[in-house]
Amino acid sequence: MTTFSYTAEEAHQLDAADPLANFVDRFYRRENIQYMDGNSLGLLSKDAEAATIEALEQWKHYAVDGWGHPDTDWLHMPERLGAMTAELIGAKPEECVVTGQTTVNLHALLATFYPREGRPRLLADTANFPSDLYALANHVTLHSANPDGLSLISPRSDGWIYEEDVMERLSEDVSLLLLPSVWYQSGQLASIPRLTEAAHAKGILVCFDLAHSIGVVPHHLHEDGVDLAVWCNYKYLNGGPGTIGGLFVHERHHGTAPLLSGWFGSDKARQFEMSIPMVPAHSASAWQISTPSIIAAAAVQAGLSLTLEAGLSQLRAKSLQLTDYLMTLLDEKIIRTTGEGQLGTPRQPSRRGGHVAFYHPEAAALSRALRANQVIPDYRPPNTLRFAPVPMYTRFIDVWKTVDTLYRLLSTRAYESFRDSNDLVS
Ligand SMILES: Cc1ncc(COP(=O)(O)O)c(C=O)c1O
Repeated sequence: MTTFSYTAEEAHQLDAADPLANFVDRFYRRENIQYMDGNSLGLLSKDAEAATIEALEQWKHYAVDGWGHPDTDWLHMPERLGAMTAELIGAKPEECVVTGQTTVNLHALLATFYPREGRPRLLADTANFPSDLYALANHVTLHSANPDGLSLISPRSDGWIYEEDVMERLSEDVSLLLLPSVWYQSGQLASIPRLTEAAHAKGILVCFDLAHSIGVVPHHLHEDGVDLAVWCNYKYLNGGPGTIGGLFVHERHHGTAPLLSGWFGSDKARQFEMSIPMVPAHSASAWQISTPSIIAAAAVQAGLSLTLEAGLSQLRAKSLQLTDYLMTLLDEKIIRTTGEGQLGTPRQPSRRGGHVAFYHPEAAALSRALRANQVIPDYRPPNTLRFAPVPMYTRFIDVWKTVDTLYRLLSTRAYESFRDSNDLVS
């Protein structure tokens, strides 16, 4: 672990030594605001803005011809963006496609890969994002009257999911194990290779939700043998609010018929034959359903380009440095000094993603008070503040100011006047 002196000067020195410093000004950062919520919604980059304007110009100029014109080729945009994404998650280009949304993509994959012969169960954990669990519960209901068909692993008292707890629930009646790569509350990072190997040993397919790791943690999904994955592009990839997501299907499953089909999943060379039945693509493309929004895809493309330009290993290195700095400041300036709060994220670099959880019984009031003091955290009831120092656009001085503001609010008890506010807490 690095030793820090906790001064603002030191934060400025860390910024001066940052090889990614030039990327910060390529984003719209509100002046004097410490934005620590990029794991909920990433910021707009100037590149994404320009790409969106360019897409509007293309629409203006080409209209319907944009789908097939060689200058635009909108028809193959989901695959082009899939190939860019493949570099970030360690996949083959044909294993990845940019389409749908996280939950919708999960539905599409579950419809195809669940249930499997003699395996009525789905296995997941209660610390996963609820939308995923809603989808799993639906598929169990669709296929059986047994409400116990969805088995859920609970986190231990520290809020973390332990691999041994997952492993002991891997049984021969489970079709598929769904886990997040990074848990959205605690920031814990899953060991994808170990969990995949253990599940496969019991014949269980594995699906990861990469929403909280894509663009900030490198993955090797193909090599690790992961079967399926879903994600969004609006967090660390800065693709815009509610923009198109993505999915991964390992090549060993290509050729399996998608069971929630739409014409965009067709073999591209034959899509306009409009044949009945559909001829699905022999790649992850087959799990597309509907026509993608090309305007939205333009910003996703810009976000992916920026990430590839910065380099994922550099981004991960800076992210680990930022989260180490943040956790050390929280420990030294808050927890040890005020005796309040608790870190919720593992300290081990191999065990944490890009954000840090800080538990405090007054987290709701603190979240409002921070916002009133130019810091945008993320609040998750009942007691979690999450801080995401996104490496692409966060400076060390932003982290320093965030913790300094939190310290002032706690040591003066200024947050108490924010207790009873009816404001929407985010
Ligand atoms: C881990 C995770 N899964 C799923 C979702 C839901 O995503 P969507 O609304 O794009 O389906 C989110 C949203 O933030 C998430 O964080």
